[in-house]
Amino acid sequence: MTHGSFRVPSPVNEPVRDYAPGSAERASLRAELERQASEVVEIPLLIGGEEVRTGNTIDVVCPHDHGHVLARAHLAGPEETARAIEASIAARAEWADVPWEERAAVFLRCAELLAGPWRDRVNASTMLGQSKTCHQAEIDAACELIDFWRFNAFYAEELYAEQPESGPGMWNRLEHRPLDGFVFAITPFNFTSIAANLPTAPALVGNTAVWKPSDTALLSNWVTMQMMREAGLPDGVVNFVAGDGPTIGATAIADPRLAGIHFTGSTATFRTIWRQVAENIDRYGQYPRIVGETGGKDFVFAHPSADVPSLAVALVRGAFEYQGQKCSAASRAYVPRSLWGELSELLVEMTRELRMGDPADFTNFLGAVIDARAFAKHRDALAAAQADPAVEVLVGGGCDDSVGYFVEPTILVASDPSYDTMRRELFGPILTVWVYDDAQLDEAVAQCANGSEYALTGAIFARDRLVIRKLTHDLRFAAGNFYVNDKPTGAVVGQQPFGGSRASGTNDKAGSMLNLQRWVSARTIKETF
Ligand code: SER
Repeated sequence: MTHGSFRVPSPVNEPVRDYAPGSAERASLRAELERQASEVVEIPLLIGGEEVRTGNTIDVVCPHDHGHVLARAHLAGPEETARAIEASIAARAEWADVPWEERAAVFLRCAELLAGPWRDRVNASTMLGQSKTCHQAEIDAACELIDFWRFNAFYAEELYAEQPESGPGMWNRLEHRPLDGFVFAITPFNFTSIAANLPTAPALVGNTAVWKPSDTALLSNWVTMQMMREAGLPDGVVNFVAGDGPTIGATAIADPRLAGIHFTGSTATFRTIWRQVAENIDRYGQYPRIVGETGGKDFVFAHPSADVPSLAVALVRGAFEYQGQKCSAASRAYVPRSLWGELSELLVEMTRELRMGDPADFTNFLGAVIDARAFAKHRDALAAAQADPAVEVLVGGGCDDSVGYFVEPTILVASDPSYDTMRRELFGPILTVWVYDDAQLDEAVAQCANGSEYALTGAIFARDRLVIRKLTHDLRFAAGNFYVNDKPTGAVVGQQPFGGSRASGTNDKAGSMLNLQRWVSARTIKETF
């Protein structure tokens, strides 16, 4: 028994289900996949709790079978965006005053619905709509999203508990108010968990949001939105407006009541947003909080003392899980010549074993890349590499979009550490390796530290403790999530707060108190007696 205040249930990370062959959980997920694959869902906008059908629609297709239409989604224009902003502002009046425990209860209920009856629906929609394998959907759309909701509620309690000292005859208090306006959440295709977290983390601490989901994740995002409604999220707290980013963005960012932007997506789009905010700066009633996680060119750096088999596993999993479309995916590697012979053989062998195809068959390791644009970018990069005598295609190199947007897991070996794909973010299953002479270790470290404008994730592999210490120091500005002898992907909420700096974002660690703090504006109250 505790006295005085409510206590959020201690969060534990949601266990990952394995959906083993013959298991009841696999049978149930398979049935849900079949059900969703057999229908075409109509996805409306959701504004102030009202489903809005504009009639201006796009087809949502399956990336690994692009002739298969999964859903038809209605798109918002400036008018619907303006309505969504009004709905947010209207809902804010009451939601901001709701005791925080009641808001937390909504999201804890969301977590329980997702852990139980909604798990298959959300996982299946992520597998079909974003071409995730069962395991990749499970660790994202189920486990990571459940974790975001459980841990954010726990961090909110800590945030609200933070209070200043008081002296005799006075009482000092901090009131963690929501921001004075609406939050605009712009979300990515690659994680259903991040997409749902971006509007709901600010909502947990009393804000209301306009949620602009990615066109290529609409199926899972809409399913998640419906689950939130079932959990009791009041109308207007999160307003779901699919549509053209620049159109919706222009209306939302020009509104004087914009109080915050919660963004995950490309560096180029984030820079455009900053410019638009700058253009509108004199209109705002407050300085909008701008929180973003953007691109990455995540590295694996191997020292001559590295353990080669574990390095090989980290490279293959880090580069190719979810087709390399994680912001944390390994896409450039620095390997000493002394290890290359053994390592390259392992990489070829392991990469050739990876199966690619329809994720719903439960045996493939890779699905398709997300859309025609992503496919074309990879096709062009592969063609350029194949034509360049300074680049060797160690394994892979093929692509085929006749049925789905399939790009083979590919490893390129570049003789120049600043070769195009060592620097440019592709966001797909292409890993580029630079093999350095062991005697040039310092130069290789410098290349790794400064060879990219990004600084999201990175991993080092070494056995020697003094080397680990030195590399950790020398690469300290090259990644916001840094791994020692592990792959650079798979950050777990509550364990490795996630985010990067430089061109990778504002580093306001998702799923942590640091992030929630950005969505409150504290008032200091001093009362004397
Ligand atoms: N958890 C993911 C990763 O680290 C990002 O959200 O890969």
